[in-house]
Amino acid sequence: MQGQKPLHCECRKTYITKGRLPKRGGNRGGGRHLPGRLPGEGRAECPASSDTTPMRVSIIGCGAIAGTHVAAVRAAGQEICALCDIDREKVGQFAQRFGIDAPVYADYAELLERERPDAVHICTPHHLHAEMCCLALRKNIHVLCEKPLCITLGELDEVTRAARESRATLGVCLQNRYEPNLLRLRGLAAEHGVNAGMGIVAWKRDEAYYRSGEWRGRKATEGGGVMINQALHTLDLLQWICGMPSHVTAHIGNDHLSGVIEVEDTATALFELPGGGKLSFFATTAAGADFPAQVQLVTADKRILYADSSLLAEQGRLVARQLNDPAAGKRVWGTGHRELVADFYRCIGAERPFPIGAEEAGKVIRLILAMYASNGNRVAVPEAPGVGALGDAF
Ligand SMILES: NC(=O)c1ccc[n+]([C@@H]2O[C@H](COP(=O)([O-])OP(=O)(O)OC[C@H]3O[C@@H](n4cnc5c(N)ncnc54)[C@H](O)[C@@H]3O)[C@@H](O)[C@H]2O)c1
Repeated sequence: MQGQKPLHCECRKTYITKGRLPKRGGNRGGGRHLPGRLPGEGRAECPASSDTTPMRVSIIGCGAIAGTHVAAVRAAGQEICALCDIDREKVGQFAQRFGIDAPVYADYAELLERERPDAVHICTPHHLHAEMCCLALRKNIHVLCEKPLCITLGELDEVTRAARESRATLGVCLQNRYEPNLLRLRGLAAEHGVNAGMGIVAWKRDEAYYRSGEWRGRKATEGGGVMINQALHTLDLLQWICGMPSHVTAHIGNDHLSGVIEVEDTATALFELPGGGKLSFFATTAAGADFPAQVQLVTADKRILYADSSLLAEQGRLVARQLNDPAAGKRVWGTGHRELVADFYRCIGAERPFPIGAEEAGKVIRLILAMYASNGNRVAVPEAPGVGALGDAF
């Protein structure tokens, strides 16, 4: 296999084909070495190649979401080179189910060391994300991390630093940002200006759901409840469309699973935008069913509704409809994974920054941690990491 690899040059974030990074200790495959270049310099001297050898991708954590990643990685033309899960039986069944003939590991650090993949997809419980991202990034391995990027401000600081210092790309799965109707909604918001916004997530997650994984429903491993897990996407969209709030007043509580989970199942928040606009948010996993997640906007002359990836209405009139892709996984996950993963590899190949890195994905983490800290009081949303500036205050 090694002999078939494309040649690498030593330009920072520069690859001859498919975005591979030069490995530590030199130029694997004996390719032409172009020393001492600044980023972006010298690409014309890299030998052009029509080589389309897939990148070698590993999946870490082979649970519910991992299959969606396998499908998206394959659709993007890349290959799965190794799998990792602490549950040996599960990873074996996963490999069989998806027809993956590749080494399996129980220890992700060992996988990184022995396989040296070009990229890893992190699909593990929340408390492991930051640590796993940092180790891979320090080895200059590209990382696509499932949401949330991390669960504390200290971790956000650390992972932001690791991403800035790495030659590899960090991406985070906020896949709804790739939904066509949301892009359209964002365009309308930019065109008309938003006076007020609202997000609603009302889903049903019962005791059986929380018992399905030991990490669920625990502060130390999930980092929170409905906000940091289910409603994170909708809050991210609201800030992505309307702008980053400066303050929040929030309440969190446990309406139906007290004694089962130690985190919130219900949350309300009023966010303030620096320009004076307000964003209201309500989220619960105590609903009787999975209702469509909603974003609503009021501009000077429009009321706009987005719901469940499939409806966009202005003044009550349907203006766009999009059917979900049944191959994408659960309906509430939307259809964005495939496009996000494709874009991740396109960006690496084209040496463009991926649009959802640590800074972008950190915004919703800062909003959620401010909600958790609010306890009914008006609090400032913590600043973005000036690396080393954040502590574990939240
Ligand atoms: N983007 C989305 O819409 C979306 C949807 C679902 C889940 N997710 C996210 O994906 C992640 C995984 O969620 P899930 O529902 O697949 O959970 P899951 O519990 O089904 O799967 C997690 C897997 O990680 C494995 N694991 C635990 N510790 C590990 C370790 N140290 N090394 C390797 N593997 C380990 C577990 O054995 C399990 O198989 C979470 O961050 C979740 O929030 C995102």
